[in-house]
Amino acid sequence: MPWVDKLSEPQELRRCIRDLVALSTLPAIWKDYNSRQIADSAAAALLSMLNADVIYVTVPGLRDEPVADVMRTSQAVSIGSSGHIERILRGASRGRRDQISAIDNPLGKGTLRIVAAPMGFGGDAGIVAGSVNPQFPSETDRLLLGIAANHATLAIQRWHAEAEQRRLATVIERSSEFIGIADLDGTPQYLNKAAFDLLGLSGTEEVQRLNIFDFMAPDERTRAHRELLPMVMRTGRWLGELNLCHFKTGEIIPFLVDWFRIDDSRTGRPTNMATVSRDLRHQKKLEADLRRLNESLEQRVAERTSELAEALERLTLEAEERLCADVRAQQLQAELHHASRLSAAGQMAGALAHELNQPLTAFTNSINAVHRMMANGPPAPHRVATVRDVLGEAADQALRAGEIIRRLREFVTRGETEMRIENLPDLIREASHLASAGTGPHGVQVRLSFDPRAEAVFANRIQLQQVMLNLIRNAHEAMAQSEWRELEVVTARLDDKSIEIAVADRGSGLPDNIVEHLFEPFHTTKVDGMGLGLSICRSIVEAHRGKLGYEPNCGGGAIFRVTLPVPPER
Ligand SMILES: Nc1ncnc2c1ncn2[C@@H]1O[C@H](COP(=O)(O)OP(=O)(O)OP(=O)(O)O)[C@@H](O)[C@H]1O
Ligand SMILES: [Mg+2]
Repeated sequence: MPWVDKLSEPQELRRCIRDLVALSTLPAIWKDYNSRQIADSAAAALLSMLNADVIYVTVPGLRDEPVADVMRTSQAVSIGSSGHIERILRGASRGRRDQISAIDNPLGKGTLRIVAAPMGFGGDAGIVAGSVNPQFPSETDRLLLGIAANHATLAIQRWHAEAEQRRLATVIERSSEFIGIADLDGTPQYLNKAAFDLLGLSGTEEVQRLNIFDFMAPDERTRAHRELLPMVMRTGRWLGELNLCHFKTGEIIPFLVDWFRIDDSRTGRPTNMATVSRDLRHQKKLEADLRRLNESLEQRVAERTSELAEALERLTLEAEERLCADVRAQQLQAELHHASRLSAAGQMAGALAHELNQPLTAFTNSINAVHRMMANGPPAPHRVATVRDVLGEAADQALRAGEIIRRLREFVTRGETEMRIENLPDLIREASHLASAGTGPHGVQVRLSFDPRAEAVFANRIQLQQVMLNLIRNAHEAMAQSEWRELEVVTARLDDKSIEIAVADRGSGLPDNIVEHLFEPFHTTKVDGMGLGLSICRSIVEAHRGKLGYEPNCGGGAIFRVTLPVPPER
């Protein structure tokens, strides 16, 4: 070795051996030192060994820690100038290992000879030694500097690695997961705190007497032996649910177990197995709670559904009953209409007999006259025209009688509910004619007045005629005692939507106690009345989507107003 050859002097050799021995003891001292302490210790040792004036050490910090600079000088240096010296030496530390440079001595007079030994971290990391001695550095100095730099590098690297390990160990130890490492035969080597707590283990000694299969619930052990362990060894991993057992309470605890094999990175051979397992009790409880909640929710929904179904059934029944009641009411109403028509027809029978009597008497008279004219053989030629006229009159009277009978039949025939557009004036005329043929007082002056804009009405003719007939008959009857017997039936177009028929009389008018119940059935002031007329009228008018109302006629008497919708344009 060339440098050994230069150590010709035994004294120098002794010094070199002494210093090398001293340097070799440093790593043991640095065992618990951090980077800065190592740098400082190395600087102090080198300052005395090299007999140098300044030693400057720059070492990298751990991860994001700052770089540590340490400077040791043979003489006291003020803080102000130390920064300046450091800057100069930091530049020098980047130089090559064997490069020696001479700079103006920043510590005092003369020249400072400096040499650097970089450390294996890259960048500025390294040791710089400086001396005003013109012989500096000797080969021994450079040797010692290089060895010190190597020792410091290794010590700092070890410090960094240990710090990293301590960090990881803290994470593992503080983890709430069960983390454990075991031999391939199942003897536990390491368990973190969570593992001890979760299984109720009291100490490392107890654990060392156990095997990982002792951690498992008894009925899981066979499966673990036969299936899980072989799978871990074969594929490197098994992940699944496994029940472990609490050593003190005997509680069976479900875990999500990640069980894996650890292989030697160099040989690739399995060395250990390990696990990171999660206690599933909390999760299982949440799942059970959720399941219970779901079940109770489902039950409540089912109960509510059945309540709703019952309510629906009740409503359906009620609706059906109401429908039946409506049908019964409609039947009753139809019966009443019919009864009313029959009673009206009965009351009119006498009048109709009288009515029919007239045309029939006239007919009989005409026929008798013809008979007489032809008693002595065929009529003389100048009388033939007279005979033809008389026969014509007889035919007219027969037709009139037939017409009266036809109207009566039509009126009493039940079931004609068809609605169609009817001519309102015709309908009113006919009703008025029928009513006038009734049993009311004589000498009633009837005035019909029709608005040409209210000629069409969408109605069932017989029903609307019955309304008119009832109103007109009531008016007639009310005027039985009156001196001034005047009946007015007036139609009018009210607006684009409705027309009105007003029936006004000069009769007795209505006392208040009657007005209160006017449209209710069976309220009558008449000896032979049924008190049904007006209630039937109102039902019929409302069935035609109209309204029936009463108001007193000023100057005495009553006015009944029927309002009906205007039929749609054809
Ligand atoms: N124009 C009117 N003037 C005075 N009173 C009337 C008039 N119209 C009806 N009334 C009173 O209203 C009552 C009820 O009339 P409604 O037509 O409903 O029955 P009614 O005429 O008594 O019997 P019926 O069932 O034979 O028609 C009558 O009894 C009468 O007192
Ligand atoms: Mg009446």
